[in-house]
Amino acid sequence: MTDLSLPFESRYLPIKKLHDEYRRSIDQPEEFWAEQARQLDWFKTWDRVLDWEPPFAHWFVGGKLNASHICVDRHIKNWRRSKVAIYWEGEPGDNRVLSYSTLYNEVNCFAAVLKQQGIKKGDRVALYLPMLPELPIFMLACARIGAIHTVIFSGFSAQALADRINDVQAKLLVTADGSYRRGKVIPLKAIADEALTNCPSVKNTIVVKRTGTQINMKPRRDLWLKDLLNKEMPFVPPVAVESNHPLYILYTSGTTGKPKGIVHGTGGYLVHNYCAYQWAFDIKEESVYWCSADVGWVTGHSSIVYAPLAHGAAIVLYEGAPDYPDVDRWWHIIDKYGVSIFYTSPTAIRMLMSYGESWPKKHDLSSLELLGSVGEPINSEAWLWFYKNIGAERCPIVDTWWQTETGGIMISPAPGIQCAPLKPGSATFPLPGVDADVVDETGKPAPPEERGLLVIKKPWPGMFLGVYGDPERYKETYWSRFPGMYYTGDYAVKDDEGYYWILGRADEVLKIAGHRIGTAELEDAATSHPKIAEAAAVSKSDPVKGESLIMFVRLKEGTKPTPKLKQDIVNHLRKVIGPIATPEQVYFTTRLPKTRSGKIMRRILKAVAEKASIGDLSTLEDEGAVDEVIKSYQETEQARAEANERN
Ligand code: WT7
Repeated sequence: MTDLSLPFESRYLPIKKLHDEYRRSIDQPEEFWAEQARQLDWFKTWDRVLDWEPPFAHWFVGGKLNASHICVDRHIKNWRRSKVAIYWEGEPGDNRVLSYSTLYNEVNCFAAVLKQQGIKKGDRVALYLPMLPELPIFMLACARIGAIHTVIFSGFSAQALADRINDVQAKLLVTADGSYRRGKVIPLKAIADEALTNCPSVKNTIVVKRTGTQINMKPRRDLWLKDLLNKEMPFVPPVAVESNHPLYILYTSGTTGKPKGIVHGTGGYLVHNYCAYQWAFDIKEESVYWCSADVGWVTGHSSIVYAPLAHGAAIVLYEGAPDYPDVDRWWHIIDKYGVSIFYTSPTAIRMLMSYGESWPKKHDLSSLELLGSVGEPINSEAWLWFYKNIGAERCPIVDTWWQTETGGIMISPAPGIQCAPLKPGSATFPLPGVDADVVDETGKPAPPEERGLLVIKKPWPGMFLGVYGDPERYKETYWSRFPGMYYTGDYAVKDDEGYYWILGRADEVLKIAGHRIGTAELEDAATSHPKIAEAAAVSKSDPVKGESLIMFVRLKEGTKPTPKLKQDIVNHLRKVIGPIATPEQVYFTTRLPKTRSGKIMRRILKAVAEKASIGDLSTLEDEGAVDEVIKSYQETEQARAEANERN
């Protein structure tokens, strides 16, 4: 273990003392969480803290509140009305600054627009928007009237967008004419038009003008936002919803081809996020907080919109790519806005690290006080680089473990309260009220230093309400592996001091540059290509992305494996899923290794690609398949090396 003198020494607690405090939150969770919940504004106090009918949990039952009231209205009643809520920076360098009172006015105006379009409590609204202030404003406007938003990451393809819209049966779609990415315009409206050709539930589309790109406006269906806004600044009263009224649905990948709509409630979700945000980030009134994630992921929902705004924090929102127009864009932003808390992903850190120290050195980063990491395991090299070159050895790094399903941070250092000394690469300990453990295959606690599966043994307030429209999938995926425990799908190990080290996914879900994507989803997309008979998606370790995607494909009889076809397959995957599904390499093979029951043995493919030992082959049906895969792998790599040499 690297020996570091880490900052915030005064806040570190001896582990024993920490455990005693933590124990109380676990032994009396209802008292503990009720105490926390009182920090928020409720229109009506709950009747019961928790209804736990395994595996369904309902928090603060009977309580009434409204997320937009908590994130906006509360702050305009005091001096915060003139405090900055959002510093927005566009990729071309334009910017907008929104105070809490501006945010309040806009949320009301947008809520009035939604109502005027016939959107009612419980209706689903799809938001397919780039990182513009309009995205959080529309989220809050939906919450204000009790409508349920579903944000679809603006990098997703037309098909991925249509699948999600159809699954939630959205009535309304909000999009933009285009968005900027590395100086180019992404034609969002055109992609949305393609999706909408098979989304019968969508009655209207509201279009935000961003790039001025030429677009088609379908009469009666498509409306410009600016034509709908009422200049009178209407007041739309926030609807008091029951604590378990869905706030949003957000899609994430699982082990089948069909993405899951993760449903989050209101009260429990906000309580969890309000607290976890304070504990992990030590948010202060004067903090300037920047989370570089896209609002389209759960990190954006909880850690850009709901938690920071509930605290009345000033946030930075940046539209574009980290390396545009140059690779120091992010350091420039930190300097320009005086960011004090910077939260990002290991992939981004490794990428910025690869450009060298000279880039951050050009900027004054002395405003930084705390750094955060999320989305995948952070290797100690990247941790130390971030710590030294960005945090100048002054800023603690909070490595926060959580998931779309958990709604909020679960395992993380907590400098906002007292916490354990940091270890580079460890998320340290579960936050108060989070009953985590590492268990073996039989569900018994794993011994220290032994790899096991990460589970949560009691419900927590940010816990999702379920998988939209599919209670069976919810039970099966998360609660059947170990009865009574929530199965996270992650491998982890506790060291001899009890620190948690998250090791990565144990199931058929890949983490490519921190983006979660299922092997089944990728394989279904690949086999929808007319020339592919069978495909297997695996990840391989990558110095920047953590893991990169590779695909092994078996072509249909009589199809010639050509470089053009390879490119065609890559394009096909990008079209069906989006650019996050771009394989690093496609290998043609005539056979795939399978078990006797016909399951593709991805473990073998991964071992071949990692040049690791192939391990036990006793369940393999056809040994020849392994030789065949090795042969095609080696031939492809050799051709690639030769091509590189020629260049
Ligand atoms: C999966 C959840 C939670 C926001 C972004 C990801 C991995 C997340 C960490 C971390 C190691 C991490 C896990 C988890 N993960 N944070 N600090 N250290 N791994 O949300 O897309 O739902 O993915 O991300 O594998 O299960 P998500």
